[in-house]
Amino acid sequence: AANFGWQWQHFTQEDQKYADQFLGWIAPVTPEFFKDKIVLEGGCGKGRHTHLVADWGAKEVIGADLSAAVETAFAATRHLDNAHIIQADIYHLPIKKEIDYAFSVGVLHHLPDAHRGFLSLASKVKPGGHLSAWVYGAENNEWITRWVSPMRERLTSRINPGALLHVSKLPTAFVYLATKLIYRPLNRVAGGAVARHLFYNNYLMAISGFGWKEQHTIVFDHLVAPTAHYIPRGAFEQWWRDIDATDVSIQWHNKNSWRGFGRV
Ligand SMILES: C[S@@+](CC[C@H](N)C(=O)[O-])C[C@H]1O[C@@H](n2cnc3c(N)ncnc32)[C@H](O)[C@@H]1O
Repeated sequence: AANFGWQWQHFTQEDQKYADQFLGWIAPVTPEFFKDKIVLEGGCGKGRHTHLVADWGAKEVIGADLSAAVETAFAATRHLDNAHIIQADIYHLPIKKEIDYAFSVGVLHHLPDAHRGFLSLASKVKPGGHLSAWVYGAENNEWITRWVSPMRERLTSRINPGALLHVSKLPTAFVYLATKLIYRPLNRVAGGAVARHLFYNNYLMAISGFGWKEQHTIVFDHLVAPTAHYIPRGAFEQWWRDIDATDVSIQWHNKNSWRGFGRV
């Protein structure tokens, strides 16, 4: 979590596209869903989603994070009466089982035990409440687990984050140029018929609207984490059975990740 603390104290920017991106991660939830609910975010990072949820009319939203990212999250939300930031471990949340809706995006797969984090978050939702989780998928990410993860584990997550900030500019330049010069234009031609065949098209197209700083954050994020699990659909489905969730919806997002939503 310390590496993420550094990350979110450096990459403090806000982006107008965060709302759409967030709704993509928690679909079928919509902004209206939050009205008057007590909401918990497991691993709030710099607080961008806590902020959105507060704006969308939650009665109270609690953003919890273990790292120093809470400093950035607090600065971003302190003007909102219904937003609260706490520094806490997702495995040991100091919260009663009174949450209407809990969510976690991009966090569980970075925990040593992702499943345990999921169970812990779910345990705070009151009966009849709802839960969302978004995690990296194993499917279609074999190239990452095979080539990127060993480099991340042995090298990039171990070097000083300040140095990684500069090192990560090189892969960011490839991603940036590819998304702006190839993926975005080709997806606009012939209804995307050609672009469909491009490597990792859905995800790269999804981030193609972001500028340099945001894409740099994304690349840095993938290289800084000491732990990242890529979770197969079957295992993710089992998580929801383990909590006896009902009305569960599990969908493949951007052809590289799983988003789940259900009633607890
Ligand atoms: C990739 S970031 C995602 C942040 C945020 N959900 C977002 O999408 O902007 C992962 C976050 O999980 C937090 N984290 C890691 N381990 C944690 C733990 N055991 N308990 C709570 N938060 C944790 C990190 O500090 C980091 O802010």
